[in-house]
Amino acid sequence: MSSSESERTALITGAASGIGQATAVRLARDGCSVAVNDLNEDSLDATLRILNGIGARALAAPGDITDSDQVASIYELCTAELNGVDILVNNAGVLTPNTFLEISEEEWDWVMDVSVKGTFLCTRAFIGDMATRGWGRIINMSSTAGKNVSTIGGAHYTTAKTAIIGITRAVANEFASLGVTVNAVCPGLFDTDMMRRTIDAEQAARYAQSFPISRLGQPEEVADLIAFLASDSASYVTGAAFDINGGDLMV
Ligand SMILES: NC(=O)c1ccc[n+]([C@@H]2O[C@H](COP(=O)([O-])OP(=O)(O)OC[C@H]3O[C@@H](n4cnc5c(N)ncnc54)[C@H](O)[C@@H]3O)[C@@H](O)[C@H]2O)c1
Repeated sequence: MSSSESERTALITGAASGIGQATAVRLARDGCSVAVNDLNEDSLDATLRILNGIGARALAAPGDITDSDQVASIYELCTAELNGVDILVNNAGVLTPNTFLEISEEEWDWVMDVSVKGTFLCTRAFIGDMATRGWGRIINMSSTAGKNVSTIGGAHYTTAKTAIIGITRAVANEFASLGVTVNAVCPGLFDTDMMRRTIDAEQAARYAQSFPISRLGQPEEVADLIAFLASDSASYVTGAAFDINGGDLMV
């Protein structure tokens, strides 16, 4: 039997900052026990401080999600400490703005691995237990780049975020009859460290003015959409990729 909404457990990858951090806080406020992943323990301090401050049950699950041994350790930790994961948010991703001919093989692999391989490895680790319990939610982080072309990232980023929509559909189709839903979210331009590392404030303001809702998105707004997809209310939603972009892309 599945647990009630207030007893659920969630793992959010790439939760040291930005959208991952906001999602961890939102799911914790909804009553989940949350495991937060990022590359190392130090990077997770800020998120853990916020979670502890709101009285959440929070667990640091550091590790590189592109490494199957480290993902296995994250799985063991979450299983031992949280008795498993009901909601997996495959959020971690990296971006560089390099043009196609500037992208090295190493950089291509890095961008693809964090988004696509990381989503594959984490999903593979946790989805079997979700299916056994007959309830699970997986939310994958795509982007407007996955449906159009990235505004600030290179071809590797657009390719990776398009692949995320593919893996979302394929896994959703295989696990739909087992009580596990799998969806993607496709944010436009959001005010996070990733964006600030890539473009300056003037460029960001120009992009913001070009959107029908003429501002950048805030991480908490994606977290709200993820929280809906993670809830019982979204039980008939699977294999979908949801735009959240201030009207920048209307399809
Ligand atoms: N900010 C935007 O405009 C925007 C738009 C669309 C999609 N996204 C996507 O949202 C997600 C979160 O991005 P953000 O804007 O919050 O950026 P961010 O840089 O603040 O967060 C990404 C996090 O992922 C972590 N990470 C990187 N490699 C990792 C690995 N191998 N293992 C574990 N963690 C790793 C980073 O350390 C970082 O904390 C990304 O997948 C990004 O592509 C962001």
